[in-house]
Amino acid sequence: MRLGQALRSEANMTTQRPDIFTNVHKGIRNALFQACMALGRAGDDAERNQRAREQLRQTLRFVEHHGDNEDTLLLPLIEERDPVLFARMHSAHGGLAAPLRALTSKVDTTTADELHLLVQDFIVLYLDHMREEERVFELRIRELFSAEELQAFGGKSVARTLPADQRMMLGFMLPVMTREDVDDFFSRVPAELAEQLRPLAA
Ligand SMILES: [Fe+2]
Ligand SMILES: [Fe+2]
Repeated sequence: MRLGQALRSEANMTTQRPDIFTNVHKGIRNALFQACMALGRAGDDAERNQRAREQLRQTLRFVEHHGDNEDTLLLPLIEERDPVLFARMHSAHGGLAAPLRALTSKVDTTTADELHLLVQDFIVLYLDHMREEERVFELRIRELFSAEELQAFGGKSVARTLPADQRMMLGFMLPVMTREDVDDFFSRVPAELAEQLRPLAA
C-alpha cells in the first residue's frame, strides 16, 4: 500500500504540467510490443509459450485497467465540460471493447502463431487510439481542466489500482520513461521504495 500512498501524495503536489497519458501509454506500448515479440518466438516451445501467454495476460490487464480508469474517472468530468469530446472518447473506447474482449478470451485457447497475429491486429487499433488521445484529446483536456484537477485524476487512478498491478504497470513504464521523469518519480516515493523499484528503470 505504501506505493499507492506515496503516489497519491504525489498527486497532491502542484506541478505546472501533470502527465495525463504520456507515461502510461509508453508503458502500454512497451507491454504490447514485448507480448507480440514473445509470442513470435514461442512456436511449440512449452516454456516460451507459457511465458508469452503470461506476458500477454498481464498486458491485457494493463490495457483493460487503464481504459477503466479513463472511463470511471476522466470521462464523467469531460462529459460535464465538453459533451462533444466526451462523445468522441466514449465512442473510441466503445470500439475497443469488443476487440479487447475477443483477444482476452483467446489467450489460453489459440496457438501462439495465431495469437501473434491477433496481438498485431490489436496493436494497430490501440496505437491509433493512444495517438488520438495524445495528439488530439489531450490538447482539449488541458484547456478544460486545471493542473490540480489533472493531478487529482492521476492520484485517483493510482488509488484504485491494486499494489501488485501498480508494480506490474511500473515494470513496463519505468524502463521507457525519460531519465527526468524517472528521477522525478523516485523523488516523490520513500527512499526505501525507490531502492526496490529502481532496478525496473535500469
Ligand atoms: Fe483511452
Ligand atoms: Fe489512454
